[in-house]
Amino acid sequence: MDWLESRDGRLNAEGVCLDEVAERFGTPVYVYSRAAIEGAYGEFARAARGRKVLICYAMKANSNLAVLDLLARAGAGFDIVSGGELQRALAAGADASRVVFSGVGKSAAELRMALDAGVRCFNVESRSELRRLSTIAAAAGRRAPVSLRVNPDVDAGTHPYISTGLRESKFGIAHAEVLEAYREAAGLPGIEVTGIDCHIGSQITELSPFIAALERIIELVERLAADGIALRHVDLGGGLGIDYAGERPPTRTALLEAIFARVDASPAVRGLELMFEFGRSIVGNAGLLLTRVEYLKSNEARNFAVVDAAMNDLMRPALYEAFHRIVPVRQRGTAEARWDVVGPVCESGDWLGRDRALAIEEEDLLAVLSAGAYGMSMSSNYNTRPRAAEVMVDRGAAHLIRERETVESLYALDRRLPD
Ligand code: LLP
Repeated sequence: MDWLESRDGRLNAEGVCLDEVAERFGTPVYVYSRAAIEGAYGEFARAARGRKVLICYAMKANSNLAVLDLLARAGAGFDIVSGGELQRALAAGADASRVVFSGVGKSAAELRMALDAGVRCFNVESRSELRRLSTIAAAAGRRAPVSLRVNPDVDAGTHPYISTGLRESKFGIAHAEVLEAYREAAGLPGIEVTGIDCHIGSQITELSPFIAALERIIELVERLAADGIALRHVDLGGGLGIDYAGERPPTRTALLEAIFARVDASPAVRGLELMFEFGRSIVGNAGLLLTRVEYLKSNEARNFAVVDAAMNDLMRPALYEAFHRIVPVRQRGTAEARWDVVGPVCESGDWLGRDRALAIEEEDLLAVLSAGAYGMSMSSNYNTRPRAAEVMVDRGAAHLIRERETVESLYALDRRLPD
């Protein structure tokens, strides 16, 4: 996270002292770097320059309007998975013709809404969805642009909860059924077959699974062409991993170059538009969660730093035992103890880091790193905890991009029974 640096023994983010951010906006608070987001997207865009490529941002990773707005202005498309995400993207100024709609359970209302908005493509995940979409589109006198999401049966080598391309996964259409599904799609009145799509998982740190999936897609494109079904685009999904704990994933440029090299060698896909749906690699290392130590306590077995952020703010450690580096904002010399960094929620799974060497005192600030993706977007109100504020730092200034929730807002929609 090269937008962080130590100045006078304090951690700074793009030139803004994190102490000041905590002072001004309170804790817990998410802090993102504009330069880091634009830099990550820019690397993809540069690598794709001169080619027919649409880099979409998988907005489930972080859907704050300010983040979407920056990416829309930079030219990104968007990968959405719900009507809610579509509304958010449009509210942030996204152009619907650069939006692709993924997801395994799109409702009729969501399909209608996306059709009316004019999204670029529906990534359809089952034959039932195909028929539903065809009926809806035909009733409106339209044909919906469709790619079928293929399950390439490739092991992404990642955590089972975020691996999506295996045979037993709920995602996509089984490889063996794909040709049949395309034939059906080509005959449906409300469908216009435009592409093919896959997404094999997330936090992938090797090139080989991407290339293996691409090989299977190329094979399918060739067989479809032989069947008289010509496609206009190939969507290879997202999934590029980031450095949380020393992982060394391929760079964004290396990934795209390897894909382009393979595509250029295939006459069947060479001329097609390529699309991607990257989430984590655009925002993951562009954000941190700032939290304050409330209490230090120890028992015979362990030392606990109880902080004011919890699993409701950052769910990844509780859900996947995910590792996030944790660093003190104020450096106090060498660590003498190892701490479990835990939140106030009433669950033993409520921890942010375990067994960390930290030199800390009560009231110190800690930065939980690599929290820009799937942090705020997966947060909840468990234990009636208002969700954190979000701040974007930009060339020395800190801007509030989401207010901290109020407790009243958390029960505003509740209704008591009549007397
Ligand atoms: N496209 C589709 C269809 C997806 O399902 C996903 C992520 C992406 C693109 C973006 O993947 P990315 O480039 O961010 O890896 N909550 C988990 C990650 C779940 C990912 C779900 N799908 C986590 O915190 O690690």
